[in-house]
Amino acid sequence: MKLTSNEALRMVEDFRRELGNPYWIDHSVCVGNTAGVIAKALEEKGYNVDVDKASALGYVHDIGKYNGKDHGHAMSGYKYLKEKGYDDDYCNVCLTHSYLNNDIKCTAGGIPDPNDNPFLTDFIKNHEYTLEEKIINLCDLMCPHGGKVFTVDKRLIDLILRKGAYSNTQYHVKETYKLKAYFDDLLGFNLYDLFPSIKDNL
Ligand SMILES: [Fe+2]
Repeated sequence: MKLTSNEALRMVEDFRRELGNPYWIDHSVCVGNTAGVIAKALEEKGYNVDVDKASALGYVHDIGKYNGKDHGHAMSGYKYLKEKGYDDDYCNVCLTHSYLNNDIKCTAGGIPDPNDNPFLTDFIKNHEYTLEEKIINLCDLMCPHGGKVFTVDKRLIDLILRKGAYSNTQYHVKETYKLKAYFDDLLGFNLYDLFPSIKDNL
């Protein structure tokens, strides 16, 4: 079953009401909106990208936090959307959004043990990230708590201040910059130009 961006937004807004506006809702809305802007710009450049799907994936990428637990939210979000009957195209973003470079160790907030969840480790290693999923990887690294859009630099510092620095932090920062450069190259301009308000958030 497909998940439209309208349905996805409704899903998170329902959780906002039900759960008393937890912090991850504004972030999710921001990721969905930001993803939509980047996807639209790519589409205008002639790339084959599904703008509505990019927004939908952004809205639901953190849906696994509905149970109040950050730890394990990738798997719980994946299962939540699967049980609702959505296609893998939509469920997979719950798994992919925190991991860059097809590597479970390329993430913020410490180094996961690859043996903790062999399914997730193998999935991340073998999955061919779609353009829409890569957009969500980037937007998750541009949207902090709250509804603002940050440069990746500021967002990375935000993550380090909140979650700490670990032996994989340099690796994660370098891969984040590569991802940003990848989209700048596709667009032919600095994607921050799409977000004039970013200057107010420096
Ligand atoms: Fe997120």
